[in-house]
Amino acid sequence: MDNKIILTGIKPTGMPHLGNYVGALKPLIAQSQTHKTFVFIADLHALNSIHNPAEIKRHTYEIAALLIALGLNTDNAILFRQSDIDAVYKLNTFLMNITPKGLMNRAHSYKAMLEKNAALGDDPDNGVNMGLYTYPILMSADILLYNSDIVPVGADQKQHVEFARDIAEYFNRTYGDVFKLPEPQIGRDNGLIPGLDGRKMSKSYDNTIPLFAPENELKKKIMRIITDSKLPTDVKNPDESTIFLLYRHFASDNEIAHMRELFEKGQIGYGDAKKMLFEKINSVLAAPREKYEYLMSHTAELDKILADGATRADVVANKTIERVRHAMLG
Ligand code: TRP
Repeated sequence: MDNKIILTGIKPTGMPHLGNYVGALKPLIAQSQTHKTFVFIADLHALNSIHNPAEIKRHTYEIAALLIALGLNTDNAILFRQSDIDAVYKLNTFLMNITPKGLMNRAHSYKAMLEKNAALGDDPDNGVNMGLYTYPILMSADILLYNSDIVPVGADQKQHVEFARDIAEYFNRTYGDVFKLPEPQIGRDNGLIPGLDGRKMSKSYDNTIPLFAPENELKKKIMRIITDSKLPTDVKNPDESTIFLLYRHFASDNEIAHMRELFEKGQIGYGDAKKMLFEKINSVLAAPREKYEYLMSHTAELDKILADGATRADVVANKTIERVRHAMLG
């Protein structure tokens, strides 16, 4: 236990999948048991791509319900909605004025849009709103507002956290020591959780298993995992099998060793291995899924938790914004 402050944001753009669970959500919840932790739902960041309020609202509840269902203890961890904190809009405006435009030009997500447009022969700025372009500034505001030390993110967000650190350094150099310098923490398992087709599980490959799919959908997805054509009696390398690679994230050490042996001795077919995988995942996720469904039909409880989180986050955020206001405006 150290006294580092952990902070992360989750964009409400859809139901997370098993890869997100293993690589990000599970470790985050574990870390929140030993560290002061801020977790927020980044609804302002979702605005650059979703322009339907009902959709953002539903996804916001989904993320909140999911975190609580998975065991996030909101007495310790501060869970809140990004847009509930007035100070974040303020800090965003302050940071705009010290962030070089060139830094934004280098952002991977923005560059990816430019490349996509170029490939289609479209205008380079087609589909790029200023929310997307300045996304890393708002994200820096999120990170710096709560004095974060460690920011757990997926590898795709590492650059954004580095930008937050750069921006904090520019700021401190100009105005004195106001901000702590945050560090990204990239999930150890990131990229190693295979999807249905054996590639990394990712929405962009359309090969995901949603975390809280209904039981029959979970089963259907698992039965659809692509395998080679080895027979049950053939010797199989478990470390090359999507089935085993998923199983090892849910089963106990003994169970993992058992499945490994069945593969290596040619004592199990893929169909039966998939059944074992389904039973395991389903037994691990059944209780959280029930809690998730309960919360999704009792959103007033979520509102209460989020409002309480916002009150606690506000206290920290307002102190920071006063320091910044004083540093910049006297
Ligand atoms: N940009 C992150 C994502 O798309 C979400 C996010 C917003 C975030 N603000 C943050 C993550 C601050 C960490 C810290 O996944």
